[in-house]
Amino acid sequence: MNEFTPIVQGSAASFAIPAGVFAQTVTAVEHFTDRLFKFRITRPASFRFRSGEFVMIGLPNAEKPVYRAYSIASPSWDEEIEFYSIKVPGGPLTGHLQKIKAGDTVLMRKKPTGTLVNDALLPGKRLYMFSTGTGIAPFASLIRDPDTYDKFDEVILTHTCREVNELKYGQQLVAECLEDPLVGEFATGRLRHYTSVTREAYPFTGRITDLMASGKLFEDLGVAPISPETDRGMICGSMAMLNDTKATLEGFGLVEGANNKPATFVVERAFVD
Ligand SMILES: Cc1cc2nc3c(=O)[nH]c(=O)nc-3n(C[C@H](O)[C@H](O)[C@H](O)COP(=O)(O)OP(=O)(O)OC[C@H]3O[C@@H](n4cnc5c(N)ncnc54)[C@H](O)[C@@H]3O)c2cc1C
Ligand SMILES: NC(=O)c1ccc[n+]([C@@H]2O[C@H](COP(=O)([O-])OP(=O)(O)OC[C@H]3O[C@@H](n4cnc5c(N)ncnc54)[C@H](OP(=O)(O)O)[C@@H]3O)[C@@H](O)[C@H]2O)c1
Repeated sequence: MNEFTPIVQGSAASFAIPAGVFAQTVTAVEHFTDRLFKFRITRPASFRFRSGEFVMIGLPNAEKPVYRAYSIASPSWDEEIEFYSIKVPGGPLTGHLQKIKAGDTVLMRKKPTGTLVNDALLPGKRLYMFSTGTGIAPFASLIRDPDTYDKFDEVILTHTCREVNELKYGQQLVAECLEDPLVGEFATGRLRHYTSVTREAYPFTGRITDLMASGKLFEDLGVAPISPETDRGMICGSMAMLNDTKATLEGFGLVEGANNKPATFVVERAFVD
């Protein structure tokens, strides 16, 4: 540490900002349920990313802070960075992160990465974004990026959660996206939001895999079943959800792609197990 190293107040002591990371200021926090919240931080002028990528974040509350992967939920043109987060009781990061307030400091590593980017998909007519739980975060970025609508005529965001109140962030996000002065005109009439829950009564119930297998998803949307000629997919959820949704898309003839080998669908984990 030298005399110019900024010091931030941690909960128990003062810690220096580690070298090679951005130290950003929290600008807003909104809690949706006792398990879910979003927050926004200032954006470093030199920080570039592609909509849909993730980055490692931490808190300046220890000599060696705990970092975790977080999808950037804001689009690449936004002047702030948004994240949508789980609160894991006693979680090494979110046990503390869930208490942040405007004015606090969040650490962010400098290199974003990820496979849920438009470049990893071949062009198509319709893009499906399949999400469960906090897996909606990368799509919060992509549905607010005009490039997504340049590449696809129609964008269908599916979000499935256990309970109705866990859909709130996505519902607010889509409503705001349609009203947005920059993206609203691209998204209106082309962005569709399909929500379902699995453990409560709701107009649409069931896992997305079951809704595809039965054909109900396509009936509800009034579209033909998925075909490799017209449709592309992005998947974000738990490991089990990824595996099952991936198998469903492969059943429709889609093929997994990557940044260096664009194909007809791509996947990314929303958390580790
Ligand atoms: C590529 C990638 C992107 C990610 N993006 C996000 C994101 O945008 N928002 C986010 O909240 N998390 C995201 N995560 C998960 C995140 O990295 C952390 O696991 C999470 O913040 C909890 O951290 P923790 O240290 O409190 O608990 P951890 O020790 O990391 O996790 C404890 C347990 O909590 C559960 N858990 C962790 N994360 C989640 C989650 N998101 N939803 C449901 N259960 C979970 C798991 O069972 C896990 O074993 C992402 C993970 C990966 C690999
Ligand atoms: N209040 C709490 O303490 C609380 C509440 C909820 C969850 N949790 C914990 O948090 C963790 C994550 O829970 P979460 O609800 O965020 O995520 P999750 O368990 O991945 O569930 C999110 C949604 O994905 C569906 N899903 C799960 N596996 C799937 C698969 N293989 N294919 C398709 N869809 C699938 C779930 O349906 P199903 O309902 O059919 O599984 C649910 O609708 C879990 O470890 C859980 O124990 C805690």
